[in-house]
Amino acid sequence: MESMSYQPLIAPSILSADFARLDREIARIPSADWIHVDVMDGHFVPNLSFGAPVAKAVSAVTDTPMDCHLMIEDPARWVGDYVDAGAYSVTFHVEATDDPASVADLLHSKGCRAGVSVKPGTPVEPYLGLLDHVDLVLVMSVEPGFGGQKFMPDVLDKVRTLRAEIDRRGLDVLIQIDGGVDATTIGACAEAGCDVFVAGSAVYGAPEPDAMVQALRAEALDARA
Ligand code: DX5
Ligand code: ZN
Repeated sequence: MESMSYQPLIAPSILSADFARLDREIARIPSADWIHVDVMDGHFVPNLSFGAPVAKAVSAVTDTPMDCHLMIEDPARWVGDYVDAGAYSVTFHVEATDDPASVADLLHSKGCRAGVSVKPGTPVEPYLGLLDHVDLVLVMSVEPGFGGQKFMPDVLDKVRTLRAEIDRRGLDVLIQIDGGVDATTIGACAEAGCDVFVAGSAVYGAPEPDAMVQALRAEALDARA
């Protein structure tokens, strides 16, 4: 019954795209549901990517919803810049703030969807109360910081916990998975209960990125059927 209404969303990460040609790289994935934009500050994660000016340039060249994943410290200070840059949704890490509920409320007050993310070693049980404050929970399936890492299947237990809780409470909260998602791992993610699938190297490393977006969506649908 549930599978009839299941609509997996594929969110390619431009972290694996050619940064010198982002407009063309985004034009290569017309089937994408969201564009995933990985922001890294060199402090919360040991890597630096880009910030709000680049996110703004991305949103200017596409109508596809922009999904910003902030791997940064002190998200309360910065989320507004990503709303102003045109984000459809902004996700920040629970490990980066003492008060994730207020950061989510701040995003909502600015008219933006709010997501919270957990690193692979962070349990979800302490954060189940947050489900009333957010539109999305991002479960990281690699240590955040770099594309092209190996999928960590153990995190799917957290996805199952979230799926059960969201369904039990009848909440409208999406579960997103990010890290090592490809044609061989997406099925298990869909089965565990994920709704939104981030894929960087799998999409941009494919000879035809848009065909891979479609193949990933088909795999997720198959797994859930
Ligand atoms: C990692 C980023 C991911 C990354 C995924 O810190 O949050 O979005 O781009 O890359 P792949 O799909 O290659 O694991
Ligand atoms: Zn990401």
